[in-house]
This record gives sequence, C-alpha cells and structure tokens, in this order.
Amino acid sequence: MKQSWKPGNMVYPLPAVMVTCRDQEIDNVFTVAWTGTICTNPPMAYISVRPERYSYNLIKNSGVFVINLTTKKLVKATDFCGVRSGRDVDKFKEMHLEKEEAKEINCPVLKDSPVNIECKYEKSKS
Ligand SMILES: Cc1cc2nc3c(=O)[nH]c(=O)nc-3n(C[C@H](O)[C@H](O)[C@H](O)COP(=O)(O)O)c2cc1C
Repeated sequence: MKQSWKPGNMVYPLPAVMVTCRDQEIDNVFTVAWTGTICTNPPMAYISVRPERYSYNLIKNSGVFVINLTTKKLVKATDFCGVRSGRDVDKFKEMHLEKEEAKEINCPVLKDSPVNIECKYEKSKS
C-alpha cells in the first residue's frame, strides 16, 4: 500500500555540479545537486542554495554564477567542495582547481570542466 510522506526530494539520482561564484575580490566554488533546467526560451536554469551557505550571499550580491559540469577527474574536488566552506578554506588552492574568466559575466569558471554555463541571477524564493 502507498504511504504519505512529508514533502522532500524524491528525485534520485541527481548529478552534482560545481558552482563557481565571485563577489568583488572573493572567488568560491561549491557543490550543488539540486540544479536543472527551467526553460529553453528564455534559457533559464536553477540552483537551490541554502541561505547558510557562504556562496549564498556571494551570488546574491554579485548577481552571477557559473554551473560547471563535472568529470571523473573532478570527482574528488566535487566531494571536497561539498563538505568544506569557502569561509574557512580556499577550495581552488586546496584542490588545485585552475580558474579561467567567464566570457559574458564577471565570474570564474573551472578550466577542467568541459561545460561552463554562465548564469545571471534572476530571482529567488527569499
Ligand atoms: C553531492 C553534494 C551535493 C550538494 N548539493 C547541495 C545543494 O543542492 N544545495 C546546497 O545548498 N548545498 C549542497 N551541498 C552542500 C554544499 O556544497 C556545502 O555545504 C558546501 O560546503 C557549501 O560551500 P560554501 O560554504 O563555500 O558555499 C551539496 C554537497 C554535496 C557533497
């Protein structure tokens, strides 16, 4: 018999991505699994970021972020960037992640990621 559960994520598995962000002189990268496409026209994607993440205000302040798809080579860094905060550690340095400049926005992208989706913040729930 089917059960009723309280609301929660039921969609598994979810591919993780590495989101890069920048606010003024601070660059950061963190792991996000709750991400995806909202619309093709206009092209819109989403990331779900908890307000307590260090990256939350970086993105709110700058209005930009990049969704970097991962590879096998980036597995360890993807895990690390999802358990350590940019408040305490420079994750680019610790994981030897090379940065490049995004083409359309003022934000770093991961050089070793094959796909960098440059995003401008549109709106959020809070
Ligand atoms: C596989 C994986 C997926 C994650 N997905 C999310 C997510 O979708 N949203 C989120 O807010 N945090 C997510 N996290 C947790 C953040 O990546 C983690 O709290 C990170 O340390 C935040 O970094 P920051 O404090 O430098 O912003 C995930 C962590 C892992 C390991």
